[in-house]
Amino acid sequence: MNVFKTVELLQKNLMLIDKNRSIGFVPTMGALHKGHLSIVKKAKKENDLVVVSIFVNPTQFDKADDLKSYPVTIDNDLKLLKETHCDIVFIPAVEDVYPGNVQSSNFDFDGLDKVMEGAFRDGHFDGVGTVVKRLFEIVKPTRAYFGEKDFQQLQIINKMVEKGKIPVQIVPCEIYRENDGLAMSSRNTRLSEAQRKEAPLIHQTLLNVKKIFSEKDIKYIQKMVEDIFKSNTILELEYFEIADTNTLLSTNNKLPNTSYRAFIAVFAGKVRLIDNLALN
Ligand code: PAF
Repeated sequence: MNVFKTVELLQKNLMLIDKNRSIGFVPTMGALHKGHLSIVKKAKKENDLVVVSIFVNPTQFDKADDLKSYPVTIDNDLKLLKETHCDIVFIPAVEDVYPGNVQSSNFDFDGLDKVMEGAFRDGHFDGVGTVVKRLFEIVKPTRAYFGEKDFQQLQIINKMVEKGKIPVQIVPCEIYRENDGLAMSSRNTRLSEAQRKEAPLIHQTLLNVKKIFSEKDIKYIQKMVEDIFKSNTILELEYFEIADTNTLLSTNNKLPNTSYRAFIAVFAGKVRLIDNLALN
């Protein structure tokens, strides 16, 4: 496994690779867990070689505190990546990803960025779009892999690729869960014992929503979810929405031939957890 810390060194190495060989790319912010590793393994199966980037992207954090407390575990990440037989790890510095100034570009994601995470995290998706576009330009992957835990992010990347005619295939990867259903996330390590114990309620609630989705109207379901979290002293609901899978617009009326997904964001103290589930 080769580790490169500059764009120049990475690109020099990539230039030596036969053009016919496929490159699978897994962009990450590090603090890797089994969810990331399952994505790397999938990429490894589907490509001739795999590049993983580790870069905590400053422009996608709307709160300085959140950026500061984002876990950084490079040594452990490298050890885990070696075990998955990852070929190349790219760990650039901020100045290399953002030459000049650390600022995001403005994208038109056709409104996909205005709802849910976008509504609660100002500028988040412009930051994600900026860094992912830049990483695509540097790595020039055949396929790029994104987890469905950040489903809105996945749809936004699809939109960016489609609109910008970027020559890469976006591969969605199923949410990887702990045995008790909690979606794996680098943020889970920041949960206290009591918060960790309570956190599976998030996925449990989504499963209950799925169970009643065909019989109950959306207003009923919305209130049920709000009540569940109102009576919980550890988890605080930020939003719960049932939205069209493609437009991500939330709805109060179910339409025929439309695919819906439930989306949720919850605070456990200062730790923000998100999850989502396909409903039909
Ligand atoms: O999902 C993430 O970890 C990040 O948003 C990404 C795609 C690596 C961009 O910084």
